[in-house]
Amino acid sequence: MFISLLLAAALLPDSAADSAVLPINIFPLPASVTRENGNFHFDRQTIIESTDEDSAKEAVFLQAILKPGLGDVRITSPQTDSKRVVLLQIDKSKTDLGPEGYTLTVAPNEVTITAAAAAGIFYGIQTIRQLLPAQIENPDQAKHARWDIPCVQITDKPKFAWRGLMLDVSRHFFPKQDVEHFLDLEAMHKMNVFHWHLVDDGGWRIQINHYPKLTELGAWRTWKPTWNQRNLNFPGTSSGDRVYGGFYTQADIKEVVQYAADRHITVVPEIEMPGHSMAALAAYPELICTNANVAAYKKRTGNPTPNVYCAGKESTFKFLETVIDEVCALFPGEYFHIGGDEVDKYLWDNCPDCKKRMEDEGLKNADELQSYFVKRIATYLNSKGKRLIGWDEILEGGLAPTAAVMSWRGIDGGIAAAQAGHNVVMSPGSHCYFDHSYADLPTEKVITFDPVPPSLTDDQKKLILGAQGNLWTEWVPDVPTAEQRILPRMIALSEALWSEKKDDPDTFMSRLRPYYARLDAMGCNYYLPKPEAEFNAVLLNGPTEVRFMPSPIAGGMIRYTTDGSVPTATSPEVRGGISVDKPCVITAALFRPTGISSEPIYVDVAAYKPTDSDNLVPGLSYKIFDGEFDAVPDFDKLKPADSGEGNSIGLLGDRKTNYAIEYNGYIRIDKDGAYTFTTTSDDGSVIWLGDVKVVDSDGPHGAVEKKGRIYLKSGVYPIKIGYFQGGGDQELSATLEGPGINKQPIPASMLFRNP
Ligand code: ACM
Ligand code: ZN
Repeated sequence: MFISLLLAAALLPDSAADSAVLPINIFPLPASVTRENGNFHFDRQTIIESTDEDSAKEAVFLQAILKPGLGDVRITSPQTDSKRVVLLQIDKSKTDLGPEGYTLTVAPNEVTITAAAAAGIFYGIQTIRQLLPAQIENPDQAKHARWDIPCVQITDKPKFAWRGLMLDVSRHFFPKQDVEHFLDLEAMHKMNVFHWHLVDDGGWRIQINHYPKLTELGAWRTWKPTWNQRNLNFPGTSSGDRVYGGFYTQADIKEVVQYAADRHITVVPEIEMPGHSMAALAAYPELICTNANVAAYKKRTGNPTPNVYCAGKESTFKFLETVIDEVCALFPGEYFHIGGDEVDKYLWDNCPDCKKRMEDEGLKNADELQSYFVKRIATYLNSKGKRLIGWDEILEGGLAPTAAVMSWRGIDGGIAAAQAGHNVVMSPGSHCYFDHSYADLPTEKVITFDPVPPSLTDDQKKLILGAQGNLWTEWVPDVPTAEQRILPRMIALSEALWSEKKDDPDTFMSRLRPYYARLDAMGCNYYLPKPEAEFNAVLLNGPTEVRFMPSPIAGGMIRYTTDGSVPTATSPEVRGGISVDKPCVITAALFRPTGISSEPIYVDVAAYKPTDSDNLVPGLSYKIFDGEFDAVPDFDKLKPADSGEGNSIGLLGDRKTNYAIEYNGYIRIDKDGAYTFTTTSDDGSVIWLGDVKVVDSDGPHGAVEKKGRIYLKSGVYPIKIGYFQGGGDQELSATLEGPGINKQPIPASMLFRNP
């Protein structure tokens, strides 16, 4: 019996005999995945069959995925006798899948993608791509890859219709090949809108035949080593000055729009108006307000020249309508983005043309003049069959009837717009600004984003089209930096927008770990997660080996120093753990084989000093200090304004700005073990136990929770909590979790002070 089973296995095809369970790890998470037994094996005999013209177009994308390992597999119409087939079929009756959904059935001899429309076939192919191993992404490795995918039954469709990425090509110009690379990254993660920020103060990037100076002058600014809004000028390429810039010809634009459309991505052009238009006005200064006192303007704003079109002159509208005519002819999508953000209305208030416009139109103030401007452009766009979308400032002074709002200053603008019956795309800085640092906007936060505010009614909720990530490029000088900003945050956003049941942040981050191998194989840069130590503070009376979690990426190495320097590619590697026997700071960072490293982490190691006080009483002492701080200060050097005793950690007194608090005392630990402390603070806070920093949430910032872990033997430890408040909101709390203690505010029963 035993032998015959073995023999039977030997006679089965490779894929069935191989019992290795292939992983399923798809981003964004599909709606439903059921694993079946066995695998499907791709080889040179595999045939792609398409039932119709639309799916035949999509078949080319599967062929391209297979090509590096298998050459050109055949694409045909359905045959009767074929084996090892991938069948792509559009079935218009599958209306429950919507325009972008699909089912994918993988059986040992046949793969079938069914969708109601072409986009669903495309997304099913993207899922097959992610079922294949990471090596297929790399032409050198693809030939050695196992071209197998697990048998599976997937039904999938997106939660939101607008799953976007915005790229600012004004501050940094990305040639069309780079733009197509970002489109590939979007498509792979089933994102479907590319918002192309073509115009801003830093440069005009689209050829307009009627107004050639827009690109002759406006596309080329004087070169500077780094971005500087105060130093923008546009001397022209024939000036002999070193210039920086570039632009897309109309042929380039058509090519990119087609490239996107082939991948089911709609391109939304943005032509900023009336503000953020310095480059356009450098080319056509006659569209600046009359009587603009440039010297005074410069002194007031820091901008070298005005960046707002005159809203009084008819010539402004003539110019913009002509630009719109040419732009509309290039972009087939419904929406046209007109910017509308951060309009400095000072010049309008002092311009005779703008004043006359306000009088003639019965407008009470410059906000209403902006509203007039936007409504007039909206009407023009409507006449061309387009809909206006703009940043949330377009709400000011009254919104144009058919306009949609992109909410960036938080979500309130989006809420107001939905309540007024307008479509909304959410893109708040808090969750969607991928130019922000990972400290300010971690991937773990992006995955939690829900663009639909619970306060809206069901009908209003339907007006939220979705969301998008924005990459502003003042500080993004090249593609690797751009990739590092969007990966993996864009992947998290894709899941937040596609998946009805997205993962919690911890599960999502652990699913990402093996996915970095795919990004590596693609040659993409990404934000390298920091290494994780078991404890981030060590007292030398407990365990003295500092252990690290395994590298979160394949082939990653954790390197460290103990002399305070930042580790380099030649610093010693952490193998298992680091033994420590004297006070130091361990600085560790994760390195990719390429030598690129993560930001460092610090583990504070200090001697344990037994507490000398033996007549402690319950509670903590506190002191309050007045002053302007940008970090938790060295309290010993300051004179307190106030002091007292309390038994919980939180804000004290009624100060609103510019002060600091020090809590001081002892914490009694009854059981040996690992303890996790947190603070949630706005601005910064730190917890020290004895001489080690356990929680470091220093610096000015909004309310964030920061954790720190330490091993403590039973005993009494000095504890100090420092906090400072600069301006804005203020908040402070601290929690503890440990053996027998669920996470809770640090219990008063554990806190003591000198009498
Ligand atoms: C923006 O970030 N000014 C839309
Ligand atoms: Zn004016």
